[in-house]
Amino acid sequence: MIRLSGTVDFEQIWAVINDGAEAYRGVIPADRWEEPYMSRKKLQREIAAGVVFWVFEEHGSITGVMGIQPVGDVTLIRHAYVRSASQKQGIGTQLLRHLRQLTTRPVLIGTWAAAIWAIRFYETHGFHQVGFAQKERLLRKYWTVPGRQIETSVVLADETWLRDQACELANGGA
Ligand SMILES: CC(C)(COP(=O)(O)OP(=O)(O)OC[C@H]1O[C@@H](n2cnc3c(N)ncnc32)[C@H](O)[C@@H]1OP(=O)(O)O)[C@@H](O)C(=O)NCCC(=O)NCCS
Repeated sequence: MIRLSGTVDFEQIWAVINDGAEAYRGVIPADRWEEPYMSRKKLQREIAAGVVFWVFEEHGSITGVMGIQPVGDVTLIRHAYVRSASQKQGIGTQLLRHLRQLTTRPVLIGTWAAAIWAIRFYETHGFHQVGFAQKERLLRKYWTVPGRQIETSVVLADETWLRDQACELANGGA
């Protein structure tokens, strides 16, 4: 079952993120890894900044989480994690499909360049990696990330964003 999270879910969401993030261990640059990968404080800050989490619940326990955050004229998909033991069973796909139905705005997703499985996952769902210059611009505009994270990240955009971009270019670049 997919449902909107509430404050009572905080601990479980935090646990799912850190369990799912084990996939990054030894893969993302060592200077970007923290223990735990996401602190409770950081998660609290993200929620306070407007990230709304949806959860996938099975038999009363949460196995997947995905956040959605409207920022300016776009919607960001944030913090997509499925428990290690529950990955590759279609949970991420269901959460992503659900979140995409919640917005008509262009959707952007940022992830680690080294997380090739995540990039492939989003590409399977119709997202396209943007070029280097666009990535830099978008990460600065819509995310709050340090310079080093910009270097080591990629941004994927949906068809709506790409179409809007093509229109802007055709109109002389807004
Ligand atoms: C990336 C992530 C959120 C995707 O969630 P997921 O539930 O594992 O994703 P799905 O099962 O829907 O799809 C993942 C793959 O499993 C495959 N799959 C789906 N159901 C399957 C099944 N029943 N049996 C075998 N494989 C299956 C899909 O084909 C898909 O492959 P693809 O990416 O090559 O297209 C999850 O794997 C995860 O938490 N990874 C670690 C953290 C991470 O990278 N997060 C992204 C942050 S932006």
